[in-house]
Amino acid sequence: MSYCFHHHHTMLAPALILLSLGAVGLCKVYDDVAELPELKFDYVIVGGGTAGNVVASRLTEDPKISVLLLEAGGSNEGVISSEVPFLFGDLFADSIYSWNYTSTPQPGLNGRSLGYFRAHFLGGCSAHNGMVYSRGAADNFNRYAQLTGDEGWSWDRLLPYFRKTEKLTDTHDTSGRINPRVHGTDGPISVSLSGFSWPEFSDHIIQTTKELPDDFPFNLDMNSGKPLGVGWTQSTIGGGERSTSATGYLTPKVMKRPNLHLLLNAQVSKLVNPSRKNGIPSFGGVQFRYGAALLVAKASKEIILSAGAVGTPQILMNSGIGSHATLSALGIPTVLDLPSVGRNASDHPSITLGWAVNSPETLETCTQNTTAFAEAMTEWETSRTGPFVDPGIATQIAWLRLKSDSPAFAKHPDPASGPDTPHIEFLLNPGGLPAPGPGNFMSIVVSVVSPASRGSVTITSNDPFAPPAIDLGALTNDFDILALKDGVGLAQHFISAPVWAGYLGAPTVDLTGDLEATIRSRATVSYHMVGTAGMSARGARYGVVDPDLRVKGMAGLSVIDASVLPFVPAAHTQAASYVIAERGADLVKQRQRNR
Ligand SMILES: Cc1cc2nc3c(=O)[nH]c(=O)nc-3n(C[C@H](O)[C@H](O)[C@H](O)COP(=O)(O)OP(=O)(O)OC[C@H]3O[C@@H](n4cnc5c(N)ncnc54)[C@H](O)[C@@H]3O)c2cc1C
Ligand SMILES: *[C@@H]1O[C@H](CO)[C@@H](O)[C@H](O)[C@H]1NC(C)=O
Ligand SMILES: *[C@@H]1O[C@H](CO)[C@@H](O)[C@H](O)[C@H]1NC(C)=O
Ligand SMILES: *[C@@H]1O[C@H](CO)[C@@H](O)[C@H](O)[C@H]1NC(C)=O
Repeated sequence: MSYCFHHHHTMLAPALILLSLGAVGLCKVYDDVAELPELKFDYVIVGGGTAGNVVASRLTEDPKISVLLLEAGGSNEGVISSEVPFLFGDLFADSIYSWNYTSTPQPGLNGRSLGYFRAHFLGGCSAHNGMVYSRGAADNFNRYAQLTGDEGWSWDRLLPYFRKTEKLTDTHDTSGRINPRVHGTDGPISVSLSGFSWPEFSDHIIQTTKELPDDFPFNLDMNSGKPLGVGWTQSTIGGGERSTSATGYLTPKVMKRPNLHLLLNAQVSKLVNPSRKNGIPSFGGVQFRYGAALLVAKASKEIILSAGAVGTPQILMNSGIGSHATLSALGIPTVLDLPSVGRNASDHPSITLGWAVNSPETLETCTQNTTAFAEAMTEWETSRTGPFVDPGIATQIAWLRLKSDSPAFAKHPDPASGPDTPHIEFLLNPGGLPAPGPGNFMSIVVSVVSPASRGSVTITSNDPFAPPAIDLGALTNDFDILALKDGVGLAQHFISAPVWAGYLGAPTVDLTGDLEATIRSRATVSYHMVGTAGMSARGARYGVVDPDLRVKGMAGLSVIDASVLPFVPAAHTQAASYVIAERGADLVKQRQRNR
C-alpha cells in the first residue's frame, strides 16, 4: 500500500518519501478506493476545498463520527507554486490544479468570455488564491442575519469564529500597521503582514493618507468590522509560506484520526439512492468517478456539499434539485423544484490601472530579471525570506465609499450593506499587472465590492461531468458600471496627491477616451463568486438553503461553502468561507447531539 503517495510529486520525491515514511499506516489519504475500510460513513463531504477541509477537521474531533471527504483533484503536498506566495498566479490556468472553466460571453464586457479560475486540488481556492485576508464589513454579516432571520450570522456572533480560524503570526513591524487585539492567535490559518516590504512605494501610499485624509483616511486594521480607509494588507501566510485549509486544518495530527477518510481524485457526479424521510426527499449516497469506475459512498447522517460556488449548484442540478424547467429540458427527473439553485451569483468586477514609475524598487526587479528571480527563489528555499514570501498583490488596500451624489445612486438603490460598507476597493500594487514592457510600474486594481449585477451557474447537459455554463453577469447592472467609473475617478484622485509628483510616469492604460467603453473592454472579475446556493429565511419563497445551511425541502443534505452567501461581502471571500465552515460544522454537530 502506498498511503500518501501521489504521482505528480515525482519532481519533489525526496521530501515526499520522508513524509510518507513518517505516515505509513496512519495517514489516511487513500490512493485507491480499495484501501477504504468500507464505503459507508456518517457524513460524506463533497469537496476538499477551503470550507470542506474545515468541516472534515471539526466533525472528526468527535471520534464517534466517521467522515469521508471526497476531492476531485489531487494532493497539495509539494505543489511548490502553492507554497511560495509569489508564485501563486502560476496555478490559475494550470490544467492539473485548476478546473478549466470559461465563462459564457459576457454582454457587459463587450461579449468577451473570461477564464473563470477554480482550484482543483486539496485546499481548493485557499491553496491557489491571492492570500489576501479580509473579513468584510460588520454590516455585511448583519445583513445576512437580517435576511435569514438568524442572529447567528451577525458580525458579533461570528466574531468568535473569525478568531477561531486565525493565528496572527510573523507580525513584522506591527506597530501602527495592524491591531492585534481584533485577531485570533491560535487558530489553524496563519494571518500576517507581509514579510517583505516595498518601502518607497508603501511610503507614497501612507503619505497619500496624510495629504488627502478626508477621502483616503488611514485605517489601522481593515478587519475590525469597519474597513473603510487605507490599511496594510494582511495575508494568509505564515513563516513565508501560504497557509491553506489543507495545511491548517488537515495537519498530520488530524489525518491520524481513524474516523477521518480522505479520497483524492474522486469527482462526485451526483447524489444517489433517493428515499423519503417522513415524506421529505433524501439521498442516501453520492456517486463519484474514480479512475474509470463509478462508485457510490453512503452517508447515514448527512451529505455535505462543499464543492464551491460552481461545483455545488452543478451537483445539485445533476441530482435533480433545481429549476424544473431547466432539468426537464435536459431529461433529468426533478426531485425538488428549487429554482434558486445556481442563480444570484455575484462577484466583484474590476479594472486594473497602471502607470510607469521613476523608481527601480518595483516587482519588475524580480519579474524582468531572471538572475534576481532565481536568487529570490533560492532565498525563499533556504530561509523563507525575500520578495517571494509576499504574493506581490498589494502592499496596502483601500476600501472606499462612493460620494453620496454619485450618478450610480440615481439608477439603483445603494446595494452596499450599510454605511460602513465600501463600494470600491483599490489593490495598491508596486508593479505592472502585467508590466506592458520593460521598465518599472505600479498598478491600482479598482473593484466594485458591493455590486448589483447577478449571474448564474447552470448545467447544459445531462452528462454530470460536462462543465457547467458560468454566466458572471459582469457589469450587467448599470449601478456597477457607474460605480466602476467613479472608482476610476477615485484612483485618479488618489494619485493626484502631491507625493506622487515626480514618482509617476505615463499611464499604461489610456483613460482619456470613452471611459465606459474602456472599462467594458478591459474589466474582469475577482473570482469571488458566492450566492449560487444562497441562504434565505425559513419559509422564504426563494433561496436554496435555510439559515442552518440545510437544503430547503430536503432531508440529510446541506451546503457548507461560499455559495450560501446571498450577497458577496465587500471583501476577498476566503475569510467568509472559513467562517461559514466553522459555524456550519458547529450546526452539524448540534444536529448530531440532538438526534
Ligand atoms: C484565482 C483566485 C484568487 C483569489 N484570491 C483571493 C484572495 O486573495 N483572498 C481571498 O480571500 N479570496 C480569494 N479568492 C476567493 C476564495 O479563495 C474563495 O472564495 C474561497 O476559497 C471559496 O471556498 P469554497 O470552500 O467555497 O470553495 P473551493 O475552495 O473552491 O473548494 C471547492 C472544492 O471542491 C472541489 N470540487 C468541486 N467539484 C467537485 C466534485 N464534483 N467532486 C469532488 N470535489 C469537487 C474542488 O476541486 C475544490 O477543491 C480567490 C479565488 C480565486 C479562484
Ligand atoms: C484541463 O484541460 C486540459 C487540456 O485540455 C486537460 O488535460 C486537463 O485534464 C483539464 N483539467 C481539468 C481539471 O479538467
Ligand atoms: C435573488 O436574491 C434576491 C434577494 O436579494 C431575491 O429576492 C430573489 O428572489 C433571488 N432570486 C432567485 C432566482 O433566487
Ligand atoms: C539583475 O539582478 C541581478 C541580481 O540581483 C543584479 O546583479 C543585476 O544588476 C540585475 N540586472 C539588471 C539589468 O538590473
